[in-house]
Amino acid sequence: MSKIVVEKSPPLKGTVRVSGAKNSALPILAASLLGTEDIVLEDVPSLRDVDVICEVLASLGSEVERYENGKIKINSANLNKHETPYELMSKMRASFLVMGPLLTRLGKAKTSLPGGCAIGTRPIDLHLKGFKALGAETDVDHGNIEAYADKLIGDRIYLDFPSVGATENIMMAAVLAEGETIIDNAAMEPEIVDLANFLSKLGADIKGAGTSSIRINGVERLGGAIHSVIPDRIEAGTYMVASAITGGDIIIENVITSHIKPVIAKLRETGCEIWENGDKLRVIGVDSRNAVDVKTLPYPGFPTDMQAQFMSLMSVSKGTSVVIETVFENRFMHVDELKRMGADIKIDGRSSIIQGVDSLTGAPVKATDLRAGAALILAGLIAEGQTTIDHVYHIDRGYDGIEKKLTKLGAKIYRTE
Ligand code: UD1
Repeated sequence: MSKIVVEKSPPLKGTVRVSGAKNSALPILAASLLGTEDIVLEDVPSLRDVDVICEVLASLGSEVERYENGKIKINSANLNKHETPYELMSKMRASFLVMGPLLTRLGKAKTSLPGGCAIGTRPIDLHLKGFKALGAETDVDHGNIEAYADKLIGDRIYLDFPSVGATENIMMAAVLAEGETIIDNAAMEPEIVDLANFLSKLGADIKGAGTSSIRINGVERLGGAIHSVIPDRIEAGTYMVASAITGGDIIIENVITSHIKPVIAKLRETGCEIWENGDKLRVIGVDSRNAVDVKTLPYPGFPTDMQAQFMSLMSVSKGTSVVIETVFENRFMHVDELKRMGADIKIDGRSSIIQGVDSLTGAPVKATDLRAGAALILAGLIAEGQTTIDHVYHIDRGYDGIEKKLTKLGAKIYRTE
């Protein structure tokens, strides 16, 4: 199994371009099952998760053609299967997002319970609550989920928590349902807006995406479209922390700065200088950072997907910080790994208390999930000696060319087979 080796690196310098957002690309690829004409997607990141969902689409009867430069052409006119293969579903939670499109287009869908990052129990009750409200019958049996309905009928659905995946799945099911669907307490993430924009290009009638109440009027059929995926705000945030933790000075291109306001604000509180200029950000780190507290929340709050990376930064900041995780109940698995590198962190339920230390020491560590892996790379950049990261397939699920991009910024990072 390949490993990533990171050595103590100089302050990062230079320019890095952010790729298309994983969390936009995956639902949009799932939504392409809904169109009956050619769909062309641009700026799709080159990631293992994208490979998996493309395989899922092909297994269902879609034609999928991939090109070098992040372009994917899909035609789902001949969509003819409603069952997804277990091997693919078990690899990635987001593959469950094909459920809504299959149900609404074919009247039935069968998948196995989703896999993916092990960050808490991650139930799917809210997705199923939505399908049921639209009139579907659902069966959950021996790890399989089946949903069927002759015709979905729009309804009003309240989400007990603004789940990103449930909002997307229900939105995709509702676009071909009869009449009006309203999703209340919907997730407001930029990726929801991107999905809604894409669906609208296909011919869907959606209003309010990006607010907590989304209104969808069902249409008879959807066609084709050309769509560029929005930039990845979490990838941008990760490079921002890379600059901050090494005391670097980097420019990050292809950023929608309004999507990462909390990360910008929190980094400024640590003492970093951040300049915004159109779709570019300049992040200048400082030698000695202030400890700051962070609480993860649904958008527009501080993203849970940046919590682990921030914890690496806080591990080597001046003073004590408290990081509270409110979105997932078990997302501190990176803490044990950071402690192996000398971090001083205590966990109390959903809170962790980090006492900044002067330096970390390289060690053999394990990426326990995607963002945890990114956090270890960041810690490795400033740890004395060498950090060897195992289970890097997690990192490959969500970061397009991370070693190449960091190397270009002057980091000492390479992969061993
Ligand atoms: C998406 C993102 C992930 C991010 C997360 C929160 C993708 C592909 N992944 O994951 O990177 O960390 O949003 O921003 O976009 N929940 C329920 N019942 C459900 C669904 C969710 O209780 O039916 C709970 C989850 O257990 C969790 C919380 O809601 O505690 C948030 O989950 P959700 O927003 O659904 O995350 P994902 O869509 O899985």
